[in-house]
Amino acid sequence: MGITIEPLTESFAARIGGVDLAGGVDDTDFAAIRRAFEEHGILIFHDQPLTDEEQIAFSERFGPLERTISASPTGGTPFARQSNIDIQSGGIIDKQDRRMEYQRGNYLWHADSTFKETPSLCSILSAREVPPVGGATEFVSTRAAHEGLPPERQAELDDLVVEHDLLHSRREIGFHFTAEEAAQTPPVRHPLVQINPVTGRKSLMIGAHASHIVGWPVETGRALLTELLDRATQPEAVYRHEWRTGDLIIWDNRSALHRATPYDTSKHRRLMQRTTISNPNAPRV
Ligand code: SIN
Repeated sequence: MGITIEPLTESFAARIGGVDLAGGVDDTDFAAIRRAFEEHGILIFHDQPLTDEEQIAFSERFGPLERTISASPTGGTPFARQSNIDIQSGGIIDKQDRRMEYQRGNYLWHADSTFKETPSLCSILSAREVPPVGGATEFVSTRAAHEGLPPERQAELDDLVVEHDLLHSRREIGFHFTAEEAAQTPPVRHPLVQINPVTGRKSLMIGAHASHIVGWPVETGRALLTELLDRATQPEAVYRHEWRTGDLIIWDNRSALHRATPYDTSKHRRLMQRTTISNPNAPRV
């Protein structure tokens, strides 16, 4: 059977079938996946149990992998572990533990690594253990948000530069970095409007890490960013994914936002392994 692509909403997200990611994807199928990624922004695969090595091998087809920053539980590795399970003991991590506090940032709408000088192309999240209730992930398209703006409003945004800052988003949830951690992620600047080099379609680089608009009074810029975020995340624009073990999702960090949703972290286990692919070709300001 060949690869299948089933769109899940009118403007973004598709379910992909007919591939076995662990068994290796040939060049023809990978080209179809890559095209679908550019077109749909979010790709959902079911029944794809992967080892860490298999996930790395598949992820590297998209580009160079990021290493996780040191404040993360898996600091220095290619994995951002989204989990309440202690790597060493296998036991459940206490709610008050710093590792759990850090992950609370994932409940905010964001794209991964927009706070980095070299932003991310996409993330790949593999569901290894899922709770029986809760722990869904929600997605929206900032391409659809941009395309929904009137043309004169789109034109106003075209040349704006936005500053992204991890400290800004973590401050929102009351998480504090050590001075050493903070020094690893100075604020960075990106074009607010991103243009997909394959499709030519535009999207917005917004989300929790977006702090302000460069050259504007901070509060004015924040008001614009909040307005754009509210518009992008209207309830009817959200695609919500309830995970099954073995699911895998690829999302485009240039054109989509996502957020984790709560589950009972003291009772149920959740282990999601995320690889994040860097975008060395991203436009610079
Ligand atoms: C993430 O924010 O990267 C992970 C989302 C999730 O754990 O559902």
